[in-house]
Amino acid sequence: MDYRSSRAGALLRGLSLVCSVGVLFVIFSSAAAEPFQCNSSGTCDALVDYVLPNSTTLSRIQTLFNVKNLTSILGANNLPLSTPPQRTFPANQTVKIPFPCICTKGATGKSNKLPIYTVVPNDGLYHIAAEVFSGLATFQQIQAANNISNANLIYVGQKLWIPLPCSCDQVDGQMVVHYGYAVPARSSVDGIAQQYNTTADVLLRLNGLASPNDLKAGAILDVPLKACASMVSNTSLDYPLLVPNGTYTLTATNCVKCNCDAANNWTLNCEPSQTKSSVWSSCPSMQCQGTDNLYLGNTTSSSCSRSTCAYAGYYNNRTISTTTALDSTCPASDNNSSAMSMQGSWKRNLWLFVLVQVLVLCVWI
Ligand SMILES: *[C@@H]1O[C@H](CO)[C@@H](O)[C@H](O)[C@H]1NC(C)=O
Ligand SMILES: *[C@@H]1O[C@H](CO)[C@@H](O)[C@H](O)[C@H]1NC(C)=O
Ligand SMILES: *[C@@H]1O[C@H](CO)[C@@H](O)[C@H](O)[C@H]1NC(C)=O
Ligand SMILES: *[C@@H]1O[C@H](CO)[C@@H](O)[C@H](O)[C@H]1NC(C)=O
Ligand SMILES: *[C@@H]1O[C@H](CO)[C@@H](O)[C@H](O)[C@H]1NC(C)=O
Ligand SMILES: *[C@@H]1O[C@H](CO)[C@@H](O)[C@H](O)[C@H]1NC(C)=O
Ligand SMILES: *[C@@H]1O[C@H](CO)[C@@H](O)[C@H](O)[C@H]1NC(C)=O
Ligand SMILES: *[C@@H]1O[C@H](CO)[C@@H](O)[C@H](O)[C@H]1NC(C)=O
Ligand SMILES: *[C@@H]1O[C@H](CO)[C@@H](O)[C@H](O)[C@H]1NC(C)=O
Ligand SMILES: *[C@@H]1O[C@H](CO)[C@@H](O)[C@H](O)[C@H]1NC(C)=O
Ligand SMILES: *[C@@H]1O[C@H](CO)[C@@H](O)[C@H](O)[C@H]1NC(C)=O
Ligand SMILES: *[C@@H]1O[C@H](CO)[C@@H](O)[C@H](O)[C@H]1NC(C)=O
Repeated sequence: MDYRSSRAGALLRGLSLVCSVGVLFVIFSSAAAEPFQCNSSGTCDALVDYVLPNSTTLSRIQTLFNVKNLTSILGANNLPLSTPPQRTFPANQTVKIPFPCICTKGATGKSNKLPIYTVVPNDGLYHIAAEVFSGLATFQQIQAANNISNANLIYVGQKLWIPLPCSCDQVDGQMVVHYGYAVPARSSVDGIAQQYNTTADVLLRLNGLASPNDLKAGAILDVPLKACASMVSNTSLDYPLLVPNGTYTLTATNCVKCNCDAANNWTLNCEPSQTKSSVWSSCPSMQCQGTDNLYLGNTTSSSCSRSTCAYAGYYNNRTISTTTALDSTCPASDNNSSAMSMQGSWKRNLWLFVLVQVLVLCVWI
């Protein structure tokens, strides 16, 4: 039967039009709730989980994702700096990949023109997306990113950009590192929120999930990682130095190693890396000014305070800037603060008293 010439055909065409409009509408309305949104344009550093499809080495992972410095993979995974590139990891192990993210306002963030994958014989877009890159991008996303009209037509030697998901958005006014977390089986939104010092609300909001039940194993969840507070100046070449809990990074052309441990009051801890500079002939001195032999990372305690020589940034002129951070460690400060809060509540009570008086006055009038 020829639908095109019959009334039934017209009806079907009408229905299919309604359906495609409906599908378009669904696609359109769900686009607003997609994860990894960017609410401003810019670039930043991001992380994503790579679940190894096969047993492989650090060096192969570095090549696959075009990571410039092996040390950035080591730092993201808190592996010792001495870990050799030949170190092998088993299949299914999760490795965090650091990469540069580019954001365009109103769109989803994507890895900035990398990784670039070269097609080998017998490759297919689906295999590359789902298996080689373990689902970090769908084959449709790779197809769109590379402007490929027919997904079945790719050729050996073709260079494909694999767009990894990311964002540079602040979350509730805080600069964070967006981490594409590969959701393991049997995890919960509450559990993930607790593990990464965020809230279930934030995770649901960032990922456009209506309910915690919408969490799917294997999905890449946008998890905003809180970074340690630092003293890095906004004129420094590495500003803002965002180091999330449980990671470290080399900065100041590799001369400085900074690590973040939530247990250390979310304070960035930097020290000389004992590594060669990638740019300068040697690493400059990292002594804090006006202190008795305090070097970067050193701490001295006196009766009522603790001074730490903290990292404050680096400049092209082979300068590493440091600053002395003072912490008050006296119990007296506790007494002070409780005195302050008592004073505060006394003030609140006074306000309440005045308010009541005004109200009484009003009633009386
Ligand atoms: C990796 O995980 C998949 C699915 O969870 C499983 O089928 C496979 O056996 C695992 N491979 C290894 C080597 O553990
Ligand atoms: C993993 O190894 C198997 C067997 O060697 C191979 O067939 C498969 O293509 C590999 N997968 C990836 C993603 O490299
Ligand atoms: C995609 O390819 C088509 C034809 O091959 C071309 O007309 C179009 O300009 C391309 N778009 C982009 C964004 O490169
Ligand atoms: C958008 O950016 C602002 C800061 O400019 C931030 O406070 C806010 O949380 C962001 N919105 C979302 C949805 O991430
Ligand atoms: C984050 O961790 C700190 C302690 O390190 C804790 O006081 C705070 O409540 C946590 N925040 C969230 C949202 O879990
Ligand atoms: C840098 O920080 C200083 C204060 O330390 C502030 O006055 C200045 O506006 C900041 N500049 C930028 C570009 O954020
Ligand atoms: C910080 O990282 C450590 C080690 O990775 C982890 O055990 C701890 O739960 C994390 N704490 C927070 C608050 O994220
Ligand atoms: C490694 O990272 C440093 C910054 O810490 C950078 O200056 C250097 O160029 C990187 N090395 C390579 C080979 O890209
Ligand atoms: C924790 O860090 C904050 C600033 O980030 C500081 O004001 C506070 O005194 C620190 N607390 C302790 C116990 O070191
Ligand atoms: C100060 O820091 C330097 C360099 O990290 C280290 O060699 C030295 O042992 C530290 N001194 C003290 C007293 O901690
Ligand atoms: C290096 O540059 C920084 C920032 O421009 C400046 O504050 C510092 O004084 C300079 N140091 C030297 C030794 O020139
Ligand atoms: C601070 O308060 C504690 C008990 O809360 C008390 O033992 C201590 O003497 C007080 N210290 C000062 C300096 O007042």
